[in-house]
Amino acid sequence: MAVPFVSDHPLIKHKVTFLRDENTGSKQFRELIREITQLLIYEATRDLPMCEVEVKTPITVTKSEVIAGRKLAFVPILRAGLGMVDGALDLVPAARVGHIGLYRDPDSHTPVEYYSKLPTDISERDVFVLDPMLATGGSAIDAIAKIKEKHPRSIKFMCIIAAPEGMDALIEAHPDVQVYCAALDKQLNDHCYIVPGLGDAGDRIFGTK
Ligand code: PRP
Ligand code: URA
Repeated sequence: MAVPFVSDHPLIKHKVTFLRDENTGSKQFRELIREITQLLIYEATRDLPMCEVEVKTPITVTKSEVIAGRKLAFVPILRAGLGMVDGALDLVPAARVGHIGLYRDPDSHTPVEYYSKLPTDISERDVFVLDPMLATGGSAIDAIAKIKEKHPRSIKFMCIIAAPEGMDALIEAHPDVQVYCAALDKQLNDHCYIVPGLGDAGDRIFGTK
């Protein structure tokens, strides 16, 4: 089982505080999601394999390292996961992007799938699933199961805020998936919203409601 990564970085904590604030409008909310995603991607790509190349500096020829041609794919869970795509692509512009559409049924709180389009060569890729919220874990668990049907090289799951209930459920369902989150909150409320959380991420990103 991979131990979840929960950030303790001051920049991430600072930005998450403003994300939580109900007075933060959609424009700033989107900017913060993008910035936090960049910082999380920085952590989640730490283990990419490297190889040495020769480079000529203005002073001399030297050996230096580059990423060893690993193919990556980002798969946002629609809608709210879309908010994380630009931040991820800022750091890895050559990555492919797939999409999985899921929404939580408002009564049962279970995920309903409505869309799936993944890169055709996903079996050669390391996949990063993106969704700002891990609440009950149902959406992440279903999305990852769907991606696993295509046998990618590896899967990481990245979220901004996780509830302990969702984190436990995800680790139990997919112990091979490394989870990265910016904050691990206290609990879920009776409507399966994360407490303290930040409210409905999709509505806040897209200004709906
Ligand atoms: C939110 C969020 C996750 C899901 C998390 O999406 O973006 O996908 O809820 O909840 P879970 O862990 O209990 O499954 P939502 O269903 O609100 O859809 P949206 O992104 O289209 O607004
Ligand atoms: N989805 C959200 O957008 N927020 C929550 O707190 C839980 C699920």
